[in-house]
Amino acid sequence: MRLETARLVLREWREADKPLYAKIIGDPVVRRFFVQTGTLADASIGIDRAMDRLRDVGFTFLAVERKADQAFMGMLGMAPLSDTLRATIAGAPRVEIGWQLGQEFWGQGYAPEGAQAMLDFAWWKLRLTEVVAITYQGNTPSRRVMEKLGMIYDANADFLHPDVPEGHLLRNHVLYRIANPVLSG
Ligand SMILES: CC(C)(COP(=O)(O)OP(=O)(O)OC[C@H]1O[C@@H](n2cnc3c(N)ncnc32)[C@H](O)[C@@H]1OP(=O)(O)O)[C@@H](O)C(=O)NCCC(=O)NCCS
Repeated sequence: MRLETARLVLREWREADKPLYAKIIGDPVVRRFFVQTGTLADASIGIDRAMDRLRDVGFTFLAVERKADQAFMGMLGMAPLSDTLRATIAGAPRVEIGWQLGQEFWGQGYAPEGAQAMLDFAWWKLRLTEVVAITYQGNTPSRRVMEKLGMIYDANADFLHPDVPEGHLLRNHVLYRIANPVLSG
């Protein structure tokens, strides 16, 4: 799987990406809305799982590269929601879109650009009916990306993330939805 935009390539993962992605998820600023930072082992497991998922379902969280200099920028893509999350969220949505870039790439519209290409793939190639995005309610940058994509905040679908410890502020999550504009006419 490979998607291209004006400035980005979204591609399958390589072994060499693992330490680079570990640096991003190990950055406490990147992870300020997560319960903890990630390790090299986390990056490795996540990347292997992403490649397995691509084989299983035909889409996944991909590596993001900048065309101009081939810089590795982070992760962006789609994945099926876990059974636990589906059981927690109103309407049991099926597929989420998500993103995580290194700090030096923020604020240049890269995430919305890559995510729009991913949504176009979801609409035209996969013919999905809906894609959702979830985040901690205070993650304004991520919510801005959702809004730029035309995703709609579902105020009835706020939820407590089951993977975040009870009583933790970061448990409070919000959900944004977007329906397939191709199928809906
Ligand atoms: C969320 C994220 C992918 C956005 O990527 P991006 O390519 O910077 O997206 P944009 O350029 O469209 O900027 C989106 C918003 O980020 C915020 N932002 C921009 N530059 C920023 C910076 N240097 N520092 C902090 N926030 C910044 C702004 O709120 C911006 O909205 P605006 O364009 O209306 O001002 C990126 O911030 C990120 O990787 N964050 C850490 C990981 C994360 O939280 N992922 C989401 C988990 S649900």
